[in-house]
Amino acid sequence: MLETMRILSVVGARPQFVKLAPIAAAMTGRAEHLIAHTGQHYDELMSDVFFRDLGIPAPDFNLGVGSGKHGAQTGAMLAGLEEIFESAKPDCVLVYGDTNSTVAAALAAVKMHIPVAHLEAGLRSFNRRMPEEHNRVLTDHSADLLLAPTQVAMDHLANEGLGRRSVLVGDVMTDVLYRVRDSLAESARALPFDLAPGGYYVSTLHRPDNTDSPERLAAIIGELATLKLPVILLAHPRLKHLAKEHNIDLNQGAIRAVDPLAYPELVNAVANSAGVITDSGGLQKEAFLLRVPCTTIRPETEWVETVELGWNVLVSADLSVLAATVQREGAAATDATPYGDGHAAARTVDALLTGISH
Ligand code: UD1
Repeated sequence: MLETMRILSVVGARPQFVKLAPIAAAMTGRAEHLIAHTGQHYDELMSDVFFRDLGIPAPDFNLGVGSGKHGAQTGAMLAGLEEIFESAKPDCVLVYGDTNSTVAAALAAVKMHIPVAHLEAGLRSFNRRMPEEHNRVLTDHSADLLLAPTQVAMDHLANEGLGRRSVLVGDVMTDVLYRVRDSLAESARALPFDLAPGGYYVSTLHRPDNTDSPERLAAIIGELATLKLPVILLAHPRLKHLAKEHNIDLNQGAIRAVDPLAYPELVNAVANSAGVITDSGGLQKEAFLLRVPCTTIRPETEWVETVELGWNVLVSADLSVLAATVQREGAAATDATPYGDGHAAARTVDALLTGISH
């Protein structure tokens, strides 16, 4: 009889907890699944609520590395993960997305000759100012199995000579989103902050290129403040810290700055909103899947399908068009499914069981 494969997932930041949820569920009965949390995100609202609401088993290991500069944070993860891998002896390490936790886990594992699989492989912004872009490229080139969410991602991997290690599994965030959307449809949930359906925008902002320069951050906040509907700004800790440091009031004009929402509340708030304004990767796609218009404050996106299908518009250098872009007419209806059918996690487990030898 074939031995059960032991797969160790390494996560650390908020979007990774969302991706982990369907994977942990799909592993049940098919593989031995362990979870290591690096502790990159540690606040209750950035971490614990996701495990709770999405039914993710508690991590088997927690490094508690916390915040820090890139080098110190990534270095602490590398050292800590090596110890965990030594004691857990996984047949495969599964890494997610593009954060410092992703690249640290991939690097620690390959040096120990442990096969690495990268979920959400092949995404590219081609923007070398983004730390996430380096994390993606380095992780893809070190990993043994590349699990791609879209055909565009598969094409990027092929162009970099990685086609033979790549498998198109679809997007696991779509799995979770559909599950949560369907459960919300069963029991109507009230909107937070007394919001009226269709009467507000949802916004998030945390990319260093938007938050770290006081002029840039003040300009973005100044534009959002002029919108005709209230803007619920779900303030990431990075945004709160920097706004305070730069003396920028987030609660200007139309803006109402509040704490980040738990995942089901976020989906509910986005689904009922008039639009999304963000620099997050995941939220652009979630807006599209819920068919809510999105405006992305970045010069480019990895999720190009959202733009091509007309549901996402990029605004970056010229912020004077931000308000008009957000308040544009809605996009043409589409039934395109570039992110898969909501069964990407099952295909991911299939690919791990057949693609990694142990
Ligand atoms: C990280 C990822 C990014 C991802 C984002 C999602 C990297 C390089 N970036 O960015 O790809 O889109 O997470 O949220 O890995 N902080 C808290 N509490 C927390 C977490 C962070 O206060 O629970 C503060 C830290 O003190 C720090 C800042 O947020 O000042 C940044 O945290 P960090 O983990 O370095 O990166 P993110 O900006 O969250």
